[in-house]
Amino acid sequence: MTETMSEPVAAGAVRLERRNDGVGILWLDVPGQRVNTLSPAMFDEFAARLNEVLRDRTVRGIVIASAKPDGFIAGADLHVLEEIDGATEAAQLSQRGNELLLRLDRAPKPVVAAVHGAALGGGLEVALACDHIVASDDPSTVLGLPEVMLGLLPGAGGTQRLPRRVGLIAALPLLLTGKKVRARKAKRLGLVDTVTSPGGIADTAARLALQLAQSGTKTRRRSWLRRLTELGPGRRLVLKRAREEVQRKSRGLYPAPLAILDCVETGLSQGLEAGLARESKEFGALVVSPQASSLIRLFHWQNELKKDEDDAAPLPVQRLGVLGAGFMGAGIASVSVGSGPVVVRDLTDDSLSSAARTVADGLKKQRRSGALTAIEADRRWHRLQLTTDVAAIRGCDMVIEAVFEDLELKRKVLAEAEAELAADAVFATNTSALPIADIAKEAKHPERVLGMHYFSPVPKMPLLELVAAKQTAPWAIATARAVGIAQGKTVIVVGDGPGFYTTRILAPFLNEAVVLVEEGARIEDVDRALRDFGYPVGPLALIDEIGLDVGAHVARDLGAKFAERGTAPSDALPKLFAAGYAGRKNQQGFYRYPPPGKKARKEPNDSVYAHTGGAPRRHFAREDVQDRLALLMVNEAVRCLEEGILRCPRDGDIGAVMGLGFPPLLGGPFRYLDQRGAGAVRDRLEQLAQAHGTRFTPANLLVEHANEQRAFYPS
Ligand code: NAI
Repeated sequence: MTETMSEPVAAGAVRLERRNDGVGILWLDVPGQRVNTLSPAMFDEFAARLNEVLRDRTVRGIVIASAKPDGFIAGADLHVLEEIDGATEAAQLSQRGNELLLRLDRAPKPVVAAVHGAALGGGLEVALACDHIVASDDPSTVLGLPEVMLGLLPGAGGTQRLPRRVGLIAALPLLLTGKKVRARKAKRLGLVDTVTSPGGIADTAARLALQLAQSGTKTRRRSWLRRLTELGPGRRLVLKRAREEVQRKSRGLYPAPLAILDCVETGLSQGLEAGLARESKEFGALVVSPQASSLIRLFHWQNELKKDEDDAAPLPVQRLGVLGAGFMGAGIASVSVGSGPVVVRDLTDDSLSSAARTVADGLKKQRRSGALTAIEADRRWHRLQLTTDVAAIRGCDMVIEAVFEDLELKRKVLAEAEAELAADAVFATNTSALPIADIAKEAKHPERVLGMHYFSPVPKMPLLELVAAKQTAPWAIATARAVGIAQGKTVIVVGDGPGFYTTRILAPFLNEAVVLVEEGARIEDVDRALRDFGYPVGPLALIDEIGLDVGAHVARDLGAKFAERGTAPSDALPKLFAAGYAGRKNQQGFYRYPPPGKKARKEPNDSVYAHTGGAPRRHFAREDVQDRLALLMVNEAVRCLEEGILRCPRDGDIGAVMGLGFPPLLGGPFRYLDQRGAGAVRDRLEQLAQAHGTRFTPANLLVEHANEQRAFYPS
């Protein structure tokens, strides 16, 4: 799936090269686009060239290859899908694709796909319709069907041909999670037949096409294990298990994975054509679903935010400093060695060696998965410099500090760094909640100080929240954004204040979960209600992950914000921490965890109730629990927009979904507000305020939107 605008495809998107050796190569090269995408116009061209090559008697074998330097086909053009008017039109589009690929599939001449770069979604479906797939052993080559992540299903035969090619058991994870695989893994799965070096891949494919033509075989051999899962009883069992697993994980909120399973089942029990027909029908219904529309929007924004949005030009960062080699500092170093030298400074050798291990492990993992070549991993490793000497950061163009969360310490570290740095070197702090202006209060150059709020674990979490204080210069923001983008992050820029945006909207949400436990709710009921709403983790389990001590600190740092709402944060967290409940780190929190190294499920920790209102527990309606928490988060997000902490609703939605797990299918707090209606949310908040206190008072901007019946996004 890709992002490129849907311009009509000019002639030349598919070129036919007739080689002397009897191979016809269909070169894919959508003009004016960096990558190839599939659109109706592209299908037409493809169909025309395919007819030509099939009719040509001099051609004995066919190769499909991309003329783009580093991409096969990135997927369907999403803008085409968004402009579709109704499920029927979407189903027809899928049918058209299916008819074309069926002709490819049944071509009387062997067809080989030469995959270098991304073959995703429709791109992989084209390859799956070929007799043989040869892929380059290059980090840029990835194969996958990510449609499910957009609330869709592969609508060009993917649900049919993938299980047939690799077997049901290997196909289901790819179809249901949308995960991508690199060439070697794809070869092990049986998805790719041949792995080769990127140079001359089309020639290799041509040679293979001729071999297939000579041997006269078009059918692929399948292992007995693959065939077994296609037989009735085995298949039914595997699909039944998969359905249960999907229900458990998605809690019935996402229709796409279940539709995928239906298509797979139909195809395997009633044949390819019945499966394709089902696929087109289900695809049509999903394209117009609200879930897909929310997820596609988020996808566009995510891509948008990977690009520069600043007026000022970023300064080049050739050398980066990281102060503090703890959990976060090590993660920041890991994602930075891809761009240039990184100097990591801590007070002790122990912390430095532990950070070095983190970086080394990360590189090893990337090398194993094929994301990095051995040479590149080695180059990155040698860019890491570890030191206890602060003077080593001299010459860095930017430093990011990740020392303990302590205002005085952070000021001291800033002063130490300023003594070493040039006047235009950026100083970023990875504080979770301390206002940047406070940290920069005594700075010599406050204009180059800003927040870079990473999420944990840094290499995994996609969001970076840049915090621009009033005094921060635009060039410093632009520079930090460029660094974040190079680290692979989706970057939002927010204003300064306690908790910035994400921590600020998370705090009342988590606090309310604790209040509910104090009022007599069961731990598991609170968490289950929010998971049923679409959060990936319940709030109390999340507090355990963060640590009750850290949770208590954050609540304290945001105390002023709570006071503005006429409430104080619950004192249950510091009390529980003092009583020995630290969360997952000491296996005692709202849940009891198995000791490290032992595998067991976590269990709700009933002993917590002795500190939070006593043992008798009572029932709370699920919708009340959901609204009390989720609407506090939504209302606080509106306040952030009102106060200019957020520049626009888009940043608020991306921040909440990618940073905090706000249900992606709801599109983020602002999209949710537009869907549920500002008036309805205002009324519900007023009702909750009457029942539970002023912390639920609707934000002024929300009331304005409700009164004027205005949406946060133009429709
Ligand atoms: P940590 O305790 O793992 O690491 C802190 C490191 O700073 C330690 O290795 C310590 O030796 C070092 N240090 C202390 N004084 C120093 C100095 N003067 N110079 C150089 N190094 C010094 O802490 P963690 O979790 O990595 O947090 C660091 C910062 O990141 C904090 O401000 C925290 O609030 C923030 N943060 C933490 C997140 C998390 O999930 N852990 C998430 C987002 C932000």
